[in-house]
Amino acid sequence: MYDHLTIVRHPLVQHKLTIMRDKDTSTKSFRQLLREISLLLAYEITREMPMTTKRIETPLTEMDAPVIEGKKMALISILRAGNGLLDGVLELIPAARVGFVGLYRDEKTLQPVQYYFKVPDGLDERLVIAVDPMLATGNSSAAAVDLLKQAGAKDIRFLCLLAAPEGVARMKEAHPDVPIVTAALDEKLNEKGYIVPGLGDAGDRMFGTK
Ligand code: URA
Repeated sequence: MYDHLTIVRHPLVQHKLTIMRDKDTSTKSFRQLLREISLLLAYEITREMPMTTKRIETPLTEMDAPVIEGKKMALISILRAGNGLLDGVLELIPAARVGFVGLYRDEKTLQPVQYYFKVPDGLDERLVIAVDPMLATGNSSAAAVDLLKQAGAKDIRFLCLLAAPEGVARMKEAHPDVPIVTAALDEKLNEKGYIVPGLGDAGDRMFGTK
């Protein structure tokens, strides 16, 4: 069931996540911790990147040294909460290209509707990492990945902070080829679609809105 899911159990990740979950943690601390955690998650999600070698000269000799193969990767933020993860990931991978996908949920149909889509060119030749802190129902994540595939993306990974079993199952059904990396798999969704125990509304907590 969860073979496409990686949970990053590193003590630093888990400790920071616990502080983020606490309802008394300030917006400032929440944002800072999200930045720190996203660096660690980015480290994990890029673990299996294809490598090649490049001939270089050290002060002592020539050598074939390892470098990442292929075009610069593309980071795609799923608005608006994705931007919180994006900042940290960009710190680790500053040369990455960046795109944005905006989706809202239609009140009547409950289906995700696109309101913004701007992505780097050559997606078909890039590793594409879609970032969204909360994988809840999985409907908007699956729709965002649909759009990325329509734009040509072939090698997509999904990075989130928290996942609900429902969201993981939805993504597996819609996109079994997309590996997911998260800091925790929580218990369930509540009747309003919030992850439980969760951390509340990630966008509100990182931007100080309500
Ligand atoms: N989005 C959030 O911000 N929080 C949740 O718990 C679920 C979706």
